[in-house]
Amino acid sequence: MFGKRLLLVTTLCVGYAAVLASGQSVTPAPPCTDQIRDDNCTLPACRCSGNDIPGNLAVTTIPQLVFLTFDDAVAIQNIDFYRQVLYNRNNPNGHSITATFFVTHEYTNYTLLHELYRLGHDIALHSMSHNPLTSYWARLNQTMWRAEVVDQRQQLSQFARIPAAEIKGFRAPFLQIGGDDMYTVLKQANFQWECSRPTLNFRKPGLWPYTNDYISSQDCQIAPCPVGEYKGFWTVPMIDMLGDNNEGCAMVDTCTPVPETADQTYNLLLKNFNDHYTSNKAPFGIYTHAAWLNGTDDEYIQERRAGYVRFLNFLGTKNDVYIVGISRAIEWVKTPTPLAQLATFTHFQNPARPNNCPYVYNCRYAPEQTPFPTERYMSICSPCPPVYPWLGNPYGRP
Ligand SMILES: *[C@@H]1O[C@H](CO)[C@@H](O)[C@H](O)[C@H]1NC(C)=O
Ligand SMILES: *[C@@H]1O[C@H](CO)[C@@H](O)[C@H](O)[C@H]1NC(C)=O
Ligand SMILES: *[C@@H]1O[C@H](CO)[C@@H](O)[C@H](O)[C@H]1NC(C)=O
Ligand SMILES: *[C@@H]1O[C@H](CO)[C@@H](O)[C@H](O)[C@H]1NC(C)=O
Ligand SMILES: [Zn+2]
Repeated sequence: MFGKRLLLVTTLCVGYAAVLASGQSVTPAPPCTDQIRDDNCTLPACRCSGNDIPGNLAVTTIPQLVFLTFDDAVAIQNIDFYRQVLYNRNNPNGHSITATFFVTHEYTNYTLLHELYRLGHDIALHSMSHNPLTSYWARLNQTMWRAEVVDQRQQLSQFARIPAAEIKGFRAPFLQIGGDDMYTVLKQANFQWECSRPTLNFRKPGLWPYTNDYISSQDCQIAPCPVGEYKGFWTVPMIDMLGDNNEGCAMVDTCTPVPETADQTYNLLLKNFNDHYTSNKAPFGIYTHAAWLNGTDDEYIQERRAGYVRFLNFLGTKNDVYIVGISRAIEWVKTPTPLAQLATFTHFQNPARPNNCPYVYNCRYAPEQTPFPTERYMSICSPCPPVYPWLGNPYGRP
């Protein structure tokens, strides 16, 4: 869920977000000089922002990484779409492809989330409340960031039986990041990365993921952007696509004009893919919501879905394209590995995980057991908590 605000002109954020919600000021990260880039900030721990290929590998020797991501609730309404489109599709190493899910608490069916986790998909966070006000996210204090994100990780761990250490990433609702307060909380809580910051200035050649040990050169499309130092914490830039009107779109479902046929959808994806593939092979992300391909938004859904599937089929014919979850891609950036050695690169392997969610607990909550005027329901892998879990009470304790 997002609006036209993604098309806002670039604003420089240096100085903008140097104050926390608490009023304390932030010490800016040091600049990344050429010497630091060579001597001090080296992989796997550190990477300055830039479009240089990790490990200085030659572009012809590296894989093109592709991210398929889906935001918001995973539910019975969209799981069959994921099963049909994502399952039974392999990377060139013979292991199945993996996508990234940015999940919210409400309406998420945690037993289905366990299925996605078990099949090796990257389960990342998108906040507990998905509060509809962007001003809420822009000004959130650290206590509330913890309630929205760190507590949500505990929730997923409890209700979907996903080990907390396997939940590594975050995307801000509406891509409205919260500057240094958000980055401080994510780093302190040992998250590894976030993927919410669009870039138009670094499209082609594209900006690779980078750590925040030094000040970033990325454009700040949606302020407040962080200015502090977050050692070893990764930003995965959202490289804008260009719609057929030539305007940037971070999420493909905001590209305009909205594609209405399978051909238009396929061509939009192919054109933007080639901007990466024929340049520095920075990861190519198709960032969307299931609703763009499997919803009731408009009458062109089936056409778009056909174009998307045709594009995935096309990627499947290329022996240098790997469709992987973002956490796996970061492991590649940390230890850049040429195509010729990828057969033994463990992070792109996807061994079966056991089903740790054998029973489905279907829970219903009357309005008086929730903070809302209407009832809520939840399907989870553990016994139903007495009240509806929410901000400040992530496990639903009485
Ligand atoms: C960078 O590394 C060099 C050599 O190891 C060291 O002398 C210098 O203090 C470091 N600079 C910073 C800013 O950490
Ligand atoms: C959640 O998914 C399970 C299948 O794992 C299904 O049995 C259950 O009915 C779903 N719950 C809801 C509320 O759709
Ligand atoms: C953080 O924000 C919440 C909600 O606005 C407020 O109740 C709380 O007092 C704030 N906490 C701090 C430490 O500022
Ligand atoms: C969503 O996908 C499922 C599985 O392919 C399909 O049964 C359903 O009709 C689709 N719904 C819409 C609205 O596209
Ligand atoms: Zn969202």
